[in-house]
Amino acid sequence: MKRLIDETEIRAAVIELGRQISADYRRRPLTALGVVTGSIVLLADLIRVIDLPLRVGLIQASSYRGATTAAGELSIGTDLLPDVTDRDVLLVDDIFDSGRTLATLCGILREKQASSVRTAVLLWKDRPTDVDLQPDYYCFKIPDVFVVGYGLDYDGEYRHLPYIAELEEADR
Ligand code: IMP
Ligand code: MG
Repeated sequence: MKRLIDETEIRAAVIELGRQISADYRRRPLTALGVVTGSIVLLADLIRVIDLPLRVGLIQASSYRGATTAAGELSIGTDLLPDVTDRDVLLVDDIFDSGRTLATLCGILREKQASSVRTAVLLWKDRPTDVDLQPDYYCFKIPDVFVVGYGLDYDGEYRHLPYIAELEEADR
């Protein structure tokens, strides 16, 4: 595995992200909504550096990708979703890749009458997107490679790594 972003860099970037979000919402109550499962590490770190009246919730999304990158059909689960009616919502995810996941979730939250919906991700992959959306907040732009760690998995593994690494042939 090739390390791309170390723990110290991530920590500094997440603190800066929290500062920016706190400044933008200026004491307005916010619902931070983590996309399960990839967002859990970022969500845990980010909510502790946001200085706003804050609720935390989860929403499920998975693309049934096989071992690596080929994204299949998107499945959404709202069993864990709190009431977002008239709330400002910040969707938190690990990575913006094709953008399909966050674009779909934004649509669902608007249907549920959220008063505003923005998106925050740790990583933004440098590639053409499939949708008309860009993340409102991100920490790092990365090349179009498959990465793991800090919530991101390969076949369910490596989510617990405290750094971001590029998966290499030998790791598969
Ligand atoms: P999108 O809908 O194509 O933007 O895909 C977003 C989802 O795909 C993320 O929430 C991740 O779960 C997964 N994903 C995309 N790229 C990677 C990667 O490089 N490593 C691990 N998971 C990824
Ligand atoms: Mg995910």
